[in-house]
Amino acid sequence: MKNIMIVFGTRPEAIKMCPLIKELKGRKNVRISVCVTGQHRKMLDQVLKAFEVIPDYDLSIMQEKQTLFEITTNILNKMKAILEQEHPDLVLVHGDTTTTFTAALACFYLQIPIGHVEAGLRTYDINAPYPEEYNRQAVSIVASYHFAPTERAKQNLIREGKAAEKIYVTGNTGIDALKTTIREDYNHEELSWASGSKMILLTAHRRENIGEPMQQIFRAIKRIIEENPEVKVIYPIHLNPLVRQIARSVFGDEERIHLIEPLEVLDFHNILARAYLVLTDSGGIQEEAPSLGKPVLVLRDTTERPEGIAAGTLCLVGTKEENIYRSIRKLLNDEDTYEEMCKASNPYGDGFASKRIADILLGDE
Ligand code: UD1
Ligand code: UDP
Repeated sequence: MKNIMIVFGTRPEAIKMCPLIKELKGRKNVRISVCVTGQHRKMLDQVLKAFEVIPDYDLSIMQEKQTLFEITTNILNKMKAILEQEHPDLVLVHGDTTTTFTAALACFYLQIPIGHVEAGLRTYDINAPYPEEYNRQAVSIVASYHFAPTERAKQNLIREGKAAEKIYVTGNTGIDALKTTIREDYNHEELSWASGSKMILLTAHRRENIGEPMQQIFRAIKRIIEENPEVKVIYPIHLNPLVRQIARSVFGDEERIHLIEPLEVLDFHNILARAYLVLTDSGGIQEEAPSLGKPVLVLRDTTERPEGIAAGTLCLVGTKEENIYRSIRKLLNDEDTYEEMCKASNPYGDGFASKRIADILLGDE
């Protein structure tokens, strides 16, 4: 019987790996074990609870204001014993976090084959996003299976010389998750609060934006709020204390900006589906919004998700106050531009990525 271990540690990896865990656990003749690093704690546990996944191993490594050194060394030191005990035939990792990179490194040291889910995303700027671009490129060097969400991601890997027969275009498992969470009939106290307004959903957490870029992002949004009484902002704020500090210092107690705790994934998706506009530096939200037809201003200078830009739903606006301010104002005032960005498309798949990955690993059922 094949023995597959799935390793992840942060909120977005969990959202995108839980549908795959469910799919694999439904298959015969395979043992599936789940190892979480606990790089995130509360934000990870929220997702595990929502998808009813109970890990077999939990490295519990999270520390407040953790450094990349701490995350890497703590995971590396703890993974060895678990991998030696479990002896998996294959380890599946996801995307580009430090959990992903370190788990892949541990497997490489022990010569355990790796399957990389969400492979081939690239900006080719090694410092943006930081350290994710390095993480995903490093995992691609050692992976035996590359599960690329799109044809473009596959082409990146081919250009880098990865063996074509080991690259599979599957769609993104994040869309599998999204297909299970959206409800026609849904309400939430934040939606009631925002009812009748143009509701902007904001998220911002990237390491490279912490400091001056994040202050500029927040100042632009504050100006918009001050000048447009019809606008309200919901910001489910990441638990990183550095992010919280900047948000509180810029937004203060502005009444039409709600700084709330991280939302459960079902709530987040349903609020996203009802937003007027999304402002984010997140990766996963850039994939979810096009399939919901929600315009996104991406608070970054570059993106590894050009498919959403090509589809017209995403627009890169960088992190400079004036540019962000003008871009939001345009979408509030120019109906044609707004409508142009509202067209739903599915560049990241049809919701069956997990099934495809399971078929590739275990054969069709
Ligand atoms: C990590 C990933 C990033 C991903 C993001 C998703 C790395 C280097 N970065 O960034 O790619 O986009 O997750 O959200 O892997 N914290 C809590 N509780 C939690 C989660 C975080 O208190 O449940 C706080 C802790 O103080 C922690 C800090 O947030 O030290 C930062 O967490 P960390 O995982 O280092 O970085 P993220 O910015 O979340
Ligand atoms: N998300 C969530 N609750 C929130 C904010 C985001 O469940 O309060 C989900 C969102 O739908 C997406 C994922 O978290 O699936 C994105 O995670 P994040 O932005 O933290 O990381 P990234 O995708 O940038 O790595």
